[in-house]
Amino acid sequence: MLYTVKVLAVAQASFGSTAAPCRNPSAAILQLFSAMTATQVSDLEAQLSQLQAEAQSAIGEAPDLDAIEQLRVAFLGKKGKISAVLGAMGKLPAEDRPRIGAKANEVKDAVQAILDRRRTDLQADAIRVRLEAETLDVTAPGTYRPLGRKHPLASTIDKALDIFVGLGYTVADGPEMETDYYNFEALNTPADHPARDMADTFYLPDGNLLRTHTSSVQIRYMEEHEPPIRVVAPGRVYRRDQVDATHAAVFHQIELLAIDEGLTFTDMKGTIETFLGEIFGEVEIRFRASYFPFTEPSAEVDVKWKGRWLEVLGCGMVDPNVLKAAGLDPEVYSGFAAGFGVERFAMVLHQIDDIRRVYASDLRFLRQF
Ligand code: DAH
Repeated sequence: MLYTVKVLAVAQASFGSTAAPCRNPSAAILQLFSAMTATQVSDLEAQLSQLQAEAQSAIGEAPDLDAIEQLRVAFLGKKGKISAVLGAMGKLPAEDRPRIGAKANEVKDAVQAILDRRRTDLQADAIRVRLEAETLDVTAPGTYRPLGRKHPLASTIDKALDIFVGLGYTVADGPEMETDYYNFEALNTPADHPARDMADTFYLPDGNLLRTHTSSVQIRYMEEHEPPIRVVAPGRVYRRDQVDATHAAVFHQIELLAIDEGLTFTDMKGTIETFLGEIFGEVEIRFRASYFPFTEPSAEVDVKWKGRWLEVLGCGMVDPNVLKAAGLDPEVYSGFAAGFGVERFAMVLHQIDDIRRVYASDLRFLRQF
């Protein structure tokens, strides 16, 4: 800009003109060169030197690579200040051209060199700053992350599921917030059934409830799948219970359901004996006649554990009413179901004396597993 203004002033002086100053800088330069005298040629040399000094200080202060690029365009670009001089060279008297041309090239080379040096310096600076910021101290000690382990409830569930998956069962689940229909009604437990008393639960304002057992998954699964069915469903269940060493209001169950043509009580016994044998090892097992609304006949199963009979699960042949509720024809299909408490198994297997310990998140307790 500075240069353009000066050129304009020179051009006007050389014409002694009273015409309106030319506003187009390149036109002004052309006018200048077409009327060039000896003094004006030396003036032009001074302009070039001035340009070099100007470039030198501007480039020296350029803060970053973007600024360098802008300055390169401004001085050396096609429409830059030095090109303007070089481009108008043809208008010079022939004898002056080599000298001014040489001078212009010299200035051009000098500016290019300054630009290159400054660019290299700035790039080196940028690399140094990055290196400092990204230095990795390979000798720094690592961050200690303690290795977790499985909670005894999780490992008990995993172990049971592994056994059933090995027997060809699929894992399923259902919602913890359940309707009265899936939790009771469809499981042959209508509103006035006395068995409801043993499983009082938490009722939600909309009439739904927190499921009292995983048996509700039986109905949901049968509604969605055609027999043959082999399914195992772990999950959390809820009871309105006084909490003590063996009772919790929230606990876990695993449900078992097998439906097919021609399944018998013997199939159920074999399956349960295989499962309990895998879990408890070589133990005596006995089936005791019992009652559940959703199975007929029903049984409770005990294992002989440390010299005493210990009740571990409930089971039975799926009641025909349950099959009907799920849309299956009891004349065609039969099956068995079973359900057991995960906490109970974990407590027996690990000799845990109080159910509340498995919910307390006490690391001194949990680290033992
Ligand atoms: N739902 C029963 C309970 O919570 C356990 C149970 C017993 C499940 C017999 C079954 C079964 O599938 O056949 O006590």
